[in-house]
Amino acid sequence: MDDAFEILNWQLEAGVDLAIDDAPVNRFEQVQNTKPQQKPLESPPEGPQVTNGSSLADRIAGQAGKSQPTPPPPARIISDAVMPDEAAVKSARDLAAAAGSLAELKQVLLEFQGCNLRRNAKNLVFGDGNPVADIMFVGETPERDEDLQGMPFIGRSGQLLDLMLAAIGMDRSSVYISNVIPWRPPGNRTPTPAETEVCLPFIERHIELVAPKILVMLGPLSAKTLLRTDDGILRLRGKWKQITFASHSVDAISSLHPTFLLRQPGQKRLAWQDFLKIKAKFDEANTG
Ligand code: URA
Repeated sequence: MDDAFEILNWQLEAGVDLAIDDAPVNRFEQVQNTKPQQKPLESPPEGPQVTNGSSLADRIAGQAGKSQPTPPPPARIISDAVMPDEAAVKSARDLAAAAGSLAELKQVLLEFQGCNLRRNAKNLVFGDGNPVADIMFVGETPERDEDLQGMPFIGRSGQLLDLMLAAIGMDRSSVYISNVIPWRPPGNRTPTPAETEVCLPFIERHIELVAPKILVMLGPLSAKTLLRTDDGILRLRGKWKQITFASHSVDAISSLHPTFLLRQPGQKRLAWQDFLKIKAKFDEANTG
């Protein structure tokens, strides 16, 4: 039994969120039937981010210790996942623009129902570090450790980021850190373009509210999203750009993501070149 739980837990971790039922289910029909209920921004649920219907976790819990076969649970209605659409993106823009402080922005995100990623995430991963820092780092998506603790960059890639910061004389008291996407995608998959688009107004407002002098975009998702380009990270990295977020203009640079550097340590020399540029710009901004 323990093995079965371990396997099922492993599947949950990997992003499996739907048990296969004995009888086929026409989920396109379910989508049609439940369309009117798709109101992204109504009635935010309190507490853990769970959805209606029977999740794999529910089924694991419900079936433990039962010897009698139980009737199949109602098929999970996957259309209650609020896939970001135009209305959700518009709401995201309006809500983000109306947030007057980081605390308000965090509250808005806690309540926002317009992105399906929150369904599987355990926690919102908002930001960490010094919210009045002159330098802000924006990563990509939270991974497992970040999801469990609701803090950005605290797993293995975060430890490497801390070392990279230390190498230029910085730490979390001198920088602020956030991500483009505030919820962990199931199984660490890449967020879809729609998921990224609906999260974009929030991270842009986040940057505007922190108002750093220097912005560092870590990894391709961060750089491409914030620079609105399809260029690859190896082309973008190490180059300064001016980005203006509503009222705030910032010197921005892209660099390689610590997760990538863990897989390709030979590329650390490129990141080191970028970090030396970041340090020089930071010193210039604080003495000039
Ligand atoms: N990778 C990211 O981009 N962000 C995190 O918070 C953790 C890993």
